[in-house]
Amino acid sequence: MIDQNTVQQIIDTADVVDVVSDFVTLRRRGSNWVGLCPFHNDRTPSFNVSRAKQIFKCFSCGEAGSAVSFVMKHEQMTYPEALRYLAAKYHIEIKEREQTDEERAAQTERESMLIVNEWACRWMEEQLWHTTDGQEIGLSYFRERGFTDATIRKFRLGYSPEDRTALYKAATQQGYNRDLLFKLGLCKDDQHGGGYDFYRGRVMFPILNVAGKVIAFGGRTLKKDDHAKYFNSPDSIIYDKSSSTMYGLYQAKRAIAKQGKCFIVEGYADVISMHQAGFENVIASSGTALTDGHIHLLHRFTENVTELFDGDAAGIRAALKGIDKLLSHGLNIKVLLLPDGDDPDSYSRKHSSSEIQHYIDEHESDFIQFKTRILLDGVQDDPIKQSQAIADVVRSIAVIPSEITRSVYAKECSRLFGVSEQMLLREIKKRIDANKDEEFKQREREQRRQEAQAAAQEPHDTPQPVVPGQMSTESPTALVAPNVSATYREERVVTELVARYGMCYLCDTEYEDGAVRPTTVVEHIYNEMTLDDMSFTDPTFSRIFSIALENLEPFYNDLARVEQEVAVHNKELCDKELKGVDPVGKSVDQIENEEKRIRSKYDLRCVDQVNDFRQLYLERRLCSHPDDRVREISTRLVTEQYQLSKIHTQYAHVLTDFERLPVLVPAALNNWKNIIIGQRIDELNQQIKDGNTQVDVATVLKDLQELYRVRTKLAKLIGERVVNP
Ligand code: CTP
Ligand code: MN
Repeated sequence: MIDQNTVQQIIDTADVVDVVSDFVTLRRRGSNWVGLCPFHNDRTPSFNVSRAKQIFKCFSCGEAGSAVSFVMKHEQMTYPEALRYLAAKYHIEIKEREQTDEERAAQTERESMLIVNEWACRWMEEQLWHTTDGQEIGLSYFRERGFTDATIRKFRLGYSPEDRTALYKAATQQGYNRDLLFKLGLCKDDQHGGGYDFYRGRVMFPILNVAGKVIAFGGRTLKKDDHAKYFNSPDSIIYDKSSSTMYGLYQAKRAIAKQGKCFIVEGYADVISMHQAGFENVIASSGTALTDGHIHLLHRFTENVTELFDGDAAGIRAALKGIDKLLSHGLNIKVLLLPDGDDPDSYSRKHSSSEIQHYIDEHESDFIQFKTRILLDGVQDDPIKQSQAIADVVRSIAVIPSEITRSVYAKECSRLFGVSEQMLLREIKKRIDANKDEEFKQREREQRRQEAQAAAQEPHDTPQPVVPGQMSTESPTALVAPNVSATYREERVVTELVARYGMCYLCDTEYEDGAVRPTTVVEHIYNEMTLDDMSFTDPTFSRIFSIALENLEPFYNDLARVEQEVAVHNKELCDKELKGVDPVGKSVDQIENEEKRIRSKYDLRCVDQVNDFRQLYLERRLCSHPDDRVREISTRLVTEQYQLSKIHTQYAHVLTDFERLPVLVPAALNNWKNIIIGQRIDELNQQIKDGNTQVDVATVLKDLQELYRVRTKLAKLIGERVVNP
């Protein structure tokens, strides 16, 4: 656990240009630095690094982030690993944080579990290599399957003896806690104060996490008639089947990064045989459907994934199931089916490496070719089947996040089916809209559920501030958002302003205590949201906003220090320059003018430097935040190409968003409120239309009146005409 102050120090010290330069040759271009993108096969320099924003971004593949995320992505490190790497680079001493009691308990339990698993893995390897049963039963089985000794060692394969209590006894003799053995699934409680082994008589495949720690086991039976071919470890605090790892990732990660691509197969044996055949960028889903967690993990290593499955019906089904999921995560997905009757394990044992490579080159197809072949197999001339196939492919293309990629596939699909590209693009668009609707509906359901839950828990006794002239906060106008789609858009604009300019000065505000204080963008938005009882419906936006609020106090502390430092520093420079003013041959007026010019130059410089500090403060923390989602979304918000809008003045000076904050922030808030009110109005109208007997029509009408009034008022502020019925 790295101490929070150390974390901040690392984030504040690490310079993105510096950090990236250790891996990518950068050249200066204007105020930025450019180079070849290390995350895709880049021919012209698309990789931009901004020192001012402390952000890198590739304009070709879209990869973007902070110094911390660069190290994570490039070096395949976890968040804490990346921080430690940066600390070492900048000679920052890491202070470890005192853990809380719960953390320590959880930590020690985690550590103990890893220790027990590591011990068990070694013990099972021991059994395999150095006991008679192990050699005769386990080792000979692996050798018969064609695994070499080196391969067996590399994957740390083992053997669990037939003896009911062999491991249990050995472990407890070593002093390992029996509860841990049970939690890990290594042993079962015999209900008489003892235990017996879960995997007895099986050959063992340890499952390692990305860091190489043994987090689980798969044990294969050697009996033909066993009802379960594999026994696997249960989920525990060190193992989540759906997200902790994929089998073989630890052994494959280097090869995956090096080749920029990865094969997914189904089974343990497939991974191992492929490795042995020289294809090391292979991992397994372990016979289960790919989850978002798996894909998220995999995406850290590559964007290019090929599903490599048996050519039988089950293999095809598995491949089809994986496709849309992988596509929706922005991965480039290909499919490679083996000749019917072969799985990667048997195929790679029957063929030489070059034959395998040849087969890959010949048969790897993108998902459209694959789907087309499957769907149209033998029915090419059937128009109904054809249109069903097109609809199916359209459905897949529609989940791809990148528009560019979508259009590339649309082109291919148009060529393959001989239908117009325009028509396909229209169909894709329709499908995207339908998906979005579905997503929003789901989000809405989820939100309703959460609201209902919160309402059930929380008694409504907290008085809300009501300010004259502001929207009232009593029930009808309380801003609860049911229609999320438009709301999402407006929340996004507000969050973008927070991420980019959160700590910038916005205005002076009079608070209830009568004091007038300078207010930042974040504070202003918070004040408005509190007055009108608004909240973010999107969980990530909401999280980003609370992080911004949490950062206010440390920000103000740092601001005081920075303001002083900047002032002192510029005063020094200013004094030096003033001393250098040559009075010879100048009038007193001229000298005074020159001095004035110098002073104001440094005054401006102070303001600029403090503004830079304000702008970078939150952005940097958000883009280097430990939460993956927060980091990802914040980076997207602050690196997006477009400016909120450009205003050209008559002086041909383009006002930046920063200069226009006093306009942009209130506008964003008003648009957001407007959407929420519109939804509330729709809801109330619906209630009247439904003739719901539970509601008092008079009250509803009164509420509606109030909402219309507020909406008209907002409309004036927003500047659009609204006609109230
Ligand atoms: N699997 C499992 N439990 C089962 C069957 C399969 O967990 N009862 C998982 C295992 O991770 C296995 C994968 O699904 O590796 C693929 O199954 P299969 O192809 O049957 O296993 P192989 O590893 O190929 O086994 P073998 O070749 O030894 O029969
Ligand atoms: Mn197999």
